[in-house]
Amino acid sequence: PGEIVIAPSILSADFAKLGAEVEAIDRDGCDWVHLDVMDGHFVPNITFGPDVVAALRPHSDKVFDTHLMIAPCDPYLEAFAKAGSDIITVHAEAGPHLDRSLQHIRSLGKKAGVSLTPSTPESAIEYVLDKLDLVLVMTVNPGFGGQTFIPAQLEKIRAIRKMIGERPIHLEVDGGVNVDTAGLVAEAGADALVAGSAVFKDGDYAKNIAAIRAAAKA
Ligand code: DX5
Ligand code: ZN
Repeated sequence: PGEIVIAPSILSADFAKLGAEVEAIDRDGCDWVHLDVMDGHFVPNITFGPDVVAALRPHSDKVFDTHLMIAPCDPYLEAFAKAGSDIITVHAEAGPHLDRSLQHIRSLGKKAGVSLTPSTPESAIEYVLDKLDLVLVMTVNPGFGGQTFIPAQLEKIRAIRKMIGERPIHLEVDGGVNVDTAGLVAEAGADALVAGSAVFKDGDYAKNIAAIRAAAKA
């Protein structure tokens, strides 16, 4: 097993100073920056769009891991690519043409991810595995930070780890990841952990990122 990627979600950052927040998590040891894009339609909350991603881009050289919780997603893929996203993840439930969306992301020169909400089975990705760079298993219902981890998703994480086999695909987990759950998801096969509230809960991002990383290895 390779190194664990820690991807703080800036959903829990101070939106009034996002540039400084991205610089802080970069300096404090994050691997990727997780950007939660919500449209008030696919999920019951609204965050930010490609212009904010573009504005943040000069503040860090780390991987911009863009989680699109929007439907439709296809009309916006090019804008997020141009904004500087490195990974663009779409939801399997966001439209009827997942295969097309993934091909589109790769044609833009970006890494393609698919996310599954808690009720979507792993079979949703069975026929697109060779078009994927990342699978994102949601361990809460998407829309808000600070929700409780859904343990039934551990079985899905295990099943997807098996499906991935030798393919170079990241298996990322998002929702309720903290020092108590990081070990469980890593043990089940996750190699990239998103954490919002567990990183931003107090001012000590370095301590929180290190603690999650240590819990994932334990
Ligand atoms: C939820 C978002 C998550 C969220 C996680 O819809 O996709 O990335 O920020 O927040 P925590 O870590 O607080 O559950
Ligand atoms: Zn997310």
